[in-house]
Amino acid sequence: MAAPPPAPVTSAMPTVQPVADPVRVRAEVLAARAAGRRVGFVPTMGALHAGHLALVDRAAAECDEVAVSIFVNPTQFGPGEDYERYPRPLAADLAALRSRRVRWVFVPAVEAIYPPGNATRIVVEGPARGYEGDVRPGHFSGVATVVHRLLQAVPSDVAYFGAKDWQQTLVVKRMVEDLGLPIEILVCPTVREGDGLAMSSRNAYLAPADRRRAVALSESLTTAAARWSAGRSATEIAATMREVMESRGVVVDYAAVVDAESLEDAVDDRPAVALVAGRLGVTRLIDNRLLPPRVGSAR
Ligand code: PAF
Repeated sequence: MAAPPPAPVTSAMPTVQPVADPVRVRAEVLAARAAGRRVGFVPTMGALHAGHLALVDRAAAECDEVAVSIFVNPTQFGPGEDYERYPRPLAADLAALRSRRVRWVFVPAVEAIYPPGNATRIVVEGPARGYEGDVRPGHFSGVATVVHRLLQAVPSDVAYFGAKDWQQTLVVKRMVEDLGLPIEILVCPTVREGDGLAMSSRNAYLAPADRRRAVALSESLTTAAARWSAGRSATEIAATMREVMESRGVVVDYAAVVDAESLEDAVDDRPAVALVAGRLGVTRLIDNRLLPPRVGSAR
């Protein structure tokens, strides 16, 4: 999906003031919904790029009011990961949102989401197992916990997530269903750079030579799609994806073709997903591509 053009600025658009207080944003969102307004929510960690802005634009197209949160969530980073150096360009993020129809930008302090003494975490099993769940122990517990808290502060009709974090979308959907949260979860297509690299706030870490090599992730997924439709086995495709990435110097964390919903073994008559993750220097990247059912396809 190509990056969308910025929405034109009109004088009718209010300037967005960040709101830090979860009680206030909750009251305002509930009042808007009580007045019959459909509210869409885009949770982010900031460092907004075209992928985030595509989610915001989709929410603005489908909803009466849009809320965006910007919160770098400490509980989803493991020891030694990039929590401290994760980019936090708040002024640029607010400027990017100013030209869009966003009513609330929720920017809580860490203590507002995790008050002193807090001791409760949500643990999702099922789709949280394997892949990111193995490489980043505790990551999905942090994601599920913060998404739950953000949804309490922003009790919207629908929340928008990017397909780039495919396993995360499954974990969030599982948590929402298991806890009976009254919200719809919508997953939107990954936005890519011209050479195919999936948009990510972490792309900013890439040194120029690594940035050139990073295209290996999406190339491995293109290869996977061709081999999947040619009837190759998941194991064989995974080995080829790994070779494509390693030939460009990517240190591969995993490469797999699995069922798109359960992340268990792929079967021909259901959608599958090719998942990849790897490191270039200090930068860790993930990507994926959905593969259609292939029953009846040429072998
Ligand atoms: O995808 C992200 O940016 C984060 O994992 C999320 C969903 C905002 C939770 O911190």
